[in-house]
Amino acid sequence: MKQILAAVSLIVIIISLLVVAFTVRQVDNEDQNLKIDLQHRTTLLAESLKETVEPNFINKSDKYLQQVVERFANKERFAGLAIYDNQDNLVAVTSTLPKEISQSQLVAAHAMDEDKASGDFVKFMDQKMYVFAIPLHDKDSVVGALMVVQNASYIDSRLTEIWRNNLIRLFIQASLLSVATLLILRWIIYVPIISLVETLKAARSGNLSTSAKSYNVPNFLFFSPLVREVTNIRRSLIEARVSASEEARMRLEKLDSPWTAERLKEFVKDTLKGRTIFVVSNREPYIHTKHGGRISYYFPASGMATAIEPIMEACGGMWIAHGSGDADRLVVDLKNKIMVPPDEPKYTLRRVWLTPKEEEGYYYGFANEGIWPLCHIAYTRPIFRKEDWEQYQKVNGKFAKTVLEEIKDFHRPIILVQDYHFALLPRMIKSSRPDATIGFFWHIPWPNAESFSICPWRKELADGVLGSDIIGFHTQLHCNNFIETVGRELESLIDWEQFAITRDRHVTYVKPFPISIAFSNGGEFQNNQGKFDSRQMMRDLDIQVKYVGLGVDRLDYTKGILERLKAIEIFLERYTPYRGQFIFIQLAAPSRSRIKRYQEFAEEVQQEVDRINNKFKTNRWKPILYIPKHHSHEEINKYYKLADLCLVTSLHDGMNLVAKEYIAARDDEKGVLILSQFAGASRELKEALIVNPYDAEQVANSMHVGLQMMKVEQTRRMRKMRESIKSHNIYRWSAELLKTIVNLG
Ligand code: G6P
Repeated sequence: MKQILAAVSLIVIIISLLVVAFTVRQVDNEDQNLKIDLQHRTTLLAESLKETVEPNFINKSDKYLQQVVERFANKERFAGLAIYDNQDNLVAVTSTLPKEISQSQLVAAHAMDEDKASGDFVKFMDQKMYVFAIPLHDKDSVVGALMVVQNASYIDSRLTEIWRNNLIRLFIQASLLSVATLLILRWIIYVPIISLVETLKAARSGNLSTSAKSYNVPNFLFFSPLVREVTNIRRSLIEARVSASEEARMRLEKLDSPWTAERLKEFVKDTLKGRTIFVVSNREPYIHTKHGGRISYYFPASGMATAIEPIMEACGGMWIAHGSGDADRLVVDLKNKIMVPPDEPKYTLRRVWLTPKEEEGYYYGFANEGIWPLCHIAYTRPIFRKEDWEQYQKVNGKFAKTVLEEIKDFHRPIILVQDYHFALLPRMIKSSRPDATIGFFWHIPWPNAESFSICPWRKELADGVLGSDIIGFHTQLHCNNFIETVGRELESLIDWEQFAITRDRHVTYVKPFPISIAFSNGGEFQNNQGKFDSRQMMRDLDIQVKYVGLGVDRLDYTKGILERLKAIEIFLERYTPYRGQFIFIQLAAPSRSRIKRYQEFAEEVQQEVDRINNKFKTNRWKPILYIPKHHSHEEINKYYKLADLCLVTSLHDGMNLVAKEYIAARDDEKGVLILSQFAGASRELKEALIVNPYDAEQVANSMHVGLQMMKVEQTRRMRKMRESIKSHNIYRWSAELLKTIVNLG
């Protein structure tokens, strides 16, 4: 505060000095102008009088001269006139002229002596006067003088007035400016800076109040970049502090305490001993896009990316993925690399570019029209085209080349290949670099051998995957299905005890690793948004209901969205009191929209939403709020917090992380999860209401059970599920996967 007052005083002093300097100059100019003006007018007056008085001056009677001077007696600002003879005797004088002036003939005497007009400003009885005299002649000799006296005190008044006005103006301006500066400095600079300092201080000293648990710092006008930086510094400090204390606790307790990013980092250091991790996936974790010349980035709606990103943040290394954003090329370096996360770089993202033809055949065609429906068994027929298969092989080859290039200087690198886009990649890498340890994680289901056998290139796919040292699935069932497929399709030795497959003397282990999310002490998954205000959110969404149901999915036919909508219809038909009281919000991230089946599906969902809304809607309410657009994790988190029910009704799903995210977001331990028995998550989250998504009646009844469930029961279930996710989080997942990889040799 002292500094603010000092700054304000300084400003006031500077302004005062400026005003004073300016006023001195103005007064000076005005003084000169007024004097010149007065002198000029006086000279004119004296000259004209001289013409009247001068002719035959010596012959003119005193009486005549007195009459002349009296004629001017009452003129404005005119003090008087006096006429002297050349003996300095007063011949005539206006009666108004003070005696002191008429008797002091100095100016007149001077004019006569010098024989030229002369004037001076003099002070008489505190009054400023201008005295001006011109000599009178008779022929060539000076016979007298005419003296004109003007009252010049108005000049001083005018100058005083200027000073007064300027000082009053200065006072008003200085006051206003001081107040304004005070307010600006206080609210725009002082308060934000103090708040930022306090925030950092609290983080540094470890004084983390509940509100400080959120990593966000209040945003202030003009300070966004600084606030962003402080938020990051603060987050790092908090994370460092939390993990340090956690480590200390772990050392003390030597318990199997929860896995955290920090613990994973330590584990990686200890276990991998400098071996670098390379992740390969189709989808990249950060996608850069252009909007009207501005480049921004977003995190994709991908369970795979959501799961792998925290590991990379903790362990560093390199992530090799398809650069699919329209501004991706603009932000990479010459080697197609960029450090990410963009706001707080921790690892390298190496982008691989695909031609439209490659993308069409490999990604849209073979991966998403072939393998995806083949593995999900959601009653959408897989399409297998030879051209797509060729592109799939080509792109796998392209990625293999990139990986080999990147690992060329690394001894025994660890490569983690992700998902069904790269079934051929492990074999391609292994045959060039047998020393590389390859872990493959298949994020989607693996169907039974019979179903898989319809794929014309089933042998090539199974053989490609077997180039890995270890293959992970979410569930034991998927492991079994894979092993059976291999047994049926390829020559190999299968060890059902070890879940190991030997082919051409290379052993591949197959194990379940149920994937999870970054949720350990609550901190990571708690949003960065401060306190959640459900009423405000309802106002923002313009909804007024008692109960909210939620669905969060990619717009994909495997997610059971149509089945869910049907269940909502039955629910509203059967449990009529919920009409007007319940809304179902469906967030749907558009996905793979160039594929015909996805376009049809998006239309079907929209039609079904419209049909149900039209059937039940009233003037003030409609049952379904459908928002088909991409949402960030932060945005989705708010919906999770708002929802009394979350419906995950996948027809088939490897794991489904939405189910886990919903639970992690509910730090209030409220809310009910309705979960499909066909999602991998149902193996772990036993306290959810488990449903068969094809059985719409059952789902509708579960919605009713969920909405009726006592709060204590909700809390009991939530608490258990939160504990389960906490102890089986993504850090533990990767530690177990890496431990298994390292133990392979
Ligand atoms: C599933 C797959 C991921 C994929 C995600 C999103 O979760 O297992 O590999 O990234 O869907 O699909 P997209 O085609 O947009 O990457």
